[in-house]
Amino acid sequence: MDGVQDAGGLSAIRVDVGEETSRQANRRDWDRYADEYQSTHGAFLGDAGFVWGPEGHTEDDTRLLGDVTGKRVLELGCGAGQCSRWVNEHGGHAVGLDVSLRQLQHSLRIDAERGTTVPAVCATATALPFAADSFDIVFSSFGALQFVADAHAAVAEVARLLVPGGRFAFSVTHPTRWMFPDDPGEGGLVASQSYWDRTPYVEIDDASGAVSYVEHHRTIGDWVGLLAGSGMALVRFDEPEWPEHHDRTWGGWSRTRGLLTPGTAIFVAEMR
Ligand SMILES: C[S@@+](CC[C@H](N)C(=O)[O-])C[C@H]1O[C@@H](n2cnc3c(N)ncnc32)[C@H](O)[C@@H]1O
Repeated sequence: MDGVQDAGGLSAIRVDVGEETSRQANRRDWDRYADEYQSTHGAFLGDAGFVWGPEGHTEDDTRLLGDVTGKRVLELGCGAGQCSRWVNEHGGHAVGLDVSLRQLQHSLRIDAERGTTVPAVCATATALPFAADSFDIVFSSFGALQFVADAHAAVAEVARLLVPGGRFAFSVTHPTRWMFPDDPGEGGLVASQSYWDRTPYVEIDDASGAVSYVEHHRTIGDWVGLLAGSGMALVRFDEPEWPEHHDRTWGGWSRTRGLLTPGTAIFVAEMR
């Protein structure tokens, strides 16, 4: 992610892009990529599994959501709804929301195969189509939060939907990872840019010149400030350690890097 690089017909650059461009590009990208994503990672995620990140830490281990029994739960960037299905199988009432229709079609496919139902809503995390105070828990596992330009709007929407005392838990790429090239090997161990550079990572389609994918970086302090500014108190911050026998590479996440630097950050906050 340092400077321009070849990403297979794509050029990766750092440039400012806004919410509308991010949403449209990422929706198209996830629609294109959904089939490959589910065939590559579906078995690791589990049809009704709840994995917080490439390190494989699960909600069964961590219980970051607390007891979900009888709780109204919203998942942002749910993909094929694996985590929401886990919530429903543990007594909660989860709704999955995603900007990608193709990802949600995979959720419906898994439901049809298992005889389950995860209500699926196609919408963006920055404009949530629900009434105020309608959820006890909102969560996201690597979904939505690092793909939106307007994180302030996304967090404010979560705050609007949560009841007092409601919980918001989300995982994102660990902010320190943004200093390093997105390389699972030794090349990904040498810092090459500033932690404080928030300029988005953008992939441009070489043929058309169109923005085809965007990720947005926030520092740990940025996230804490966003949560506090929306009336939430941080109650837990997890940096999952790379498990001793885990040897699965997922994009830039690998054993080589995971033994040395955190790859995932999980924030847990509660409405005051
Ligand atoms: C890395 S995947 C994670 C999906 C799922 N949580 C999982 O663990 O497999 C990111 C998801 O976020 C969704 N997403 C991206 N931008 C979004 C937005 N603005 N609003 C809602 N979902 C979004 C993508 O479509 C994709 O399904």
